[in-house]
Amino acid sequence: MNLSVIGIGRVGLPLALAFASRGASVTGMDINEKFLQMLKEKKMPFIEDGAEAILSSTLGKSFTVTSSLSEAMKSDNIILTLGTPVDQHMNPDFSQIDMVLGNMLPHLKKGHLIILRSTVSPGTIEYVTGFIEENTKFKVGKDIFLAFCPERLAEGKAIKELFELPEIVGANDEESKKRAVEVFKTIKSEVYTTSAINAELLKLFTNMYRYINFAIANEFMVISEQFGADIYQIVELANKNYPRGGPKKPGFAAGPCLFKDGFFLTSKIPFPELIAAAWKINETIPSYLVERVKSFTPIKGKKIAVLGLSFKSDSDDTRESLSFKLIKTLKRERAKVFVHDTYVKNDESLESVVKDADVLIIAAAHKEYSQKGYEYFRKLAKKDCVVADVWNIFGKSSIVYKMQ
Ligand SMILES: NC(=O)c1ccc[n+]([C@@H]2O[C@H](COP(=O)([O-])OP(=O)(O)OC[C@H]3O[C@@H](n4cnc5c(N)ncnc54)[C@H](O)[C@@H]3O)[C@@H](O)[C@H]2O)c1
Repeated sequence: MNLSVIGIGRVGLPLALAFASRGASVTGMDINEKFLQMLKEKKMPFIEDGAEAILSSTLGKSFTVTSSLSEAMKSDNIILTLGTPVDQHMNPDFSQIDMVLGNMLPHLKKGHLIILRSTVSPGTIEYVTGFIEENTKFKVGKDIFLAFCPERLAEGKAIKELFELPEIVGANDEESKKRAVEVFKTIKSEVYTTSAINAELLKLFTNMYRYINFAIANEFMVISEQFGADIYQIVELANKNYPRGGPKKPGFAAGPCLFKDGFFLTSKIPFPELIAAAWKINETIPSYLVERVKSFTPIKGKKIAVLGLSFKSDSDDTRESLSFKLIKTLKRERAKVFVHDTYVKNDESLESVVKDADVLIIAAAHKEYSQKGYEYFRKLAKKDCVVADVWNIFGKSSIVYKMQ
């Protein structure tokens, strides 16, 4: 089986490697020359557990990389894993997909299977079907095959989850479904088929369900703080041996998927209040924490140590991380902000960032911080340093408190 993965970023590269590790002949195509150079040196351009070992053993054998689209189009099966961000007006930006689809047209040949794996708006497969049929002599389902197969992995666990998570194949004709199932059977034991629109919505609903749950958790955290209660103990006890499930833990809920995927839905539905409210709650948590800190101490001119820049723990991905919003808010208050991240390159050591800090904010719960432990930070920071620890890495009974 041969395939090309176009756009070998955080989603495309692990996918390409998973296929290559199972004996498929895989071409990874990208326009990012820096990425490609690193890959040619068998180095991963980002952190992904287990990926570098596969890269090292497959490169030049079952896995090759290229910046040439025509080279990639020589494969029978083409998977698109391009970025689909939102623009500055929060509208979905499909320019990467549109550009590649346009450039693919002269290289399309009878029998090609195209699988869209990027997260897209509902109705995209229908749109792409029309695009191909209007611009070529091919009919989708007869000459060219087209499916939407959403990616549902969690960054950092990609290699493990790619083999474990069930695959959803969405297509509007039987031959496209059959071809896409054959491809994914190389790496998955569970593959389910449905219509394209079902698969498109399934992906967005999965992420929004998670995002709304985090928003509820954050709202409960705010209420709990108003009563001087311990949200982490509440969540733990509420979930203990309770058969109908309890709330999730609070935290910074953002990142390259959860932050933006709601905007793929809200443009089409008349009542998007719940998704919009979740966005508002989650995006407001940084300024809520700053206000809570200010109820303990003025922050103008004070040294604030912010730990963690990535959007989640033990990751080097800073896209749509709420740490940046937090830092901006603090700087508008004329605080002196010092930042450390275990995985994102910065010049200052953890020790120098935390030394004599008036305020310590845990923005990402990296292992390094919990392993160092409360005493390490207490000794370095100023006496009475105010801590904002929405992740509860220090296991205290409050989110914002003074170090004792
Ligand atoms: N990151 C995640 O955890 C995750 C999980 C599930 C789904 N998704 C979805 O998967 C898609 C990809 O996300 P990502 O995080 O991998 O994005 P990414 O930005 O890391 O990867 C996209 C890649 O496409 C490349 N690219 C851009 N234009 C190109 C072109 N013309 N030709 C070839 N390559 C081109 C970029 O250089 C980049 O390497 C998005 O739709 C995202 O919403 C992401």
